[in-house]
Amino acid sequence: MDDFRAASLESWSTVAPDWGELTAWVDEQLAPAAGWMIEAVALKPGERVLELAGGPGTLSLRAARAVGPDGHVIYSDFAAPMVEVARDRLAVEGDTAIECRVIDAEAIDLPDGAVDAVLCRMGYMLMADPALALRESARVLAPGGRLALTVWSDADSNPWAALPMKTVLGHLGAPPPPPDAPGLWSLADTARLQRLLEDAGLDSIRIELLDKVLEYESFEHWLEMTTRLAGPLRTLLADIEPGDRAAIEQGLRDAAKPYEQEGGGLSLPERMLVASARRP
Ligand SMILES: C[S@@+](CC[C@H](N)C(=O)[O-])C[C@H]1O[C@@H](n2cnc3c(N)ncnc32)[C@H](O)[C@@H]1O
Repeated sequence: MDDFRAASLESWSTVAPDWGELTAWVDEQLAPAAGWMIEAVALKPGERVLELAGGPGTLSLRAARAVGPDGHVIYSDFAAPMVEVARDRLAVEGDTAIECRVIDAEAIDLPDGAVDAVLCRMGYMLMADPALALRESARVLAPGGRLALTVWSDADSNPWAALPMKTVLGHLGAPPPPPDAPGLWSLADTARLQRLLEDAGLDSIRIELLDKVLEYESFEHWLEMTTRLAGPLRTLLADIEPGDRAAIEQGLRDAAKPYEQEGGGLSLPERMLVASARRP
């Protein structure tokens, strides 16, 4: 577990500058999730909000607008370079009142009941122990506080990321990871997600599917976006000999054929799970 945590921190720190440069693109792809989450927590002026695994801080920006000048938003991520990216962005976009902190979601450095809402988009499934992170999230919620999250659904519904992971793992001769191992698909099972939220002591649980199609200008655009943004994939690719990359790229081109559009673009499905819950 500790080896996994260190490797994960390293890989997300490495891709942080790319998340800074590609924030607008990421936000467009994940906009339905952000909208659903903000609606689900129904923030009121003056409330306190914590964003976990915040990356470039999109949910903090949305939350700050909702709670207004009397509210308080803490943006956080466990990767210090990611926090720097968010700090720069939030300063440029005018929300300097958002407090930016390095926080590991598995050990939240806040007292019990410190916030009215916790937001975490595309974070929990990447953590070594998501049950622990959800218990921590519930602990820092005040009674009546709300949690909203997004995770990815299963690999078959997400070829935009599953095809590169499968192709690279196949090339390395590595078996696919077990379904509940930390990674993109670890919380894809709605029954597991429901159980983890219940075990964290939360109620009023709502889980829904959100579908989107990711549009890429070309095969190269898909490859560039996916390898620049996906920390775990970037780490896997670092182990590939430069001479072997051509074979992997050809394998991916073949795998992408069913998704090709006229004019050379690619349309790849994405399926997310959104969930909300409440601390009794
Ligand atoms: C896929 S990105 C999502 C970023 C952002 N939430 C968004 O939706 O744009 C995953 C983020 O989770 C962060 N992360 C992974 N494990 C974490 C942990 N244990 N605690 C806090 N952040 C973590 C990474 O540093 C990265 O910024």
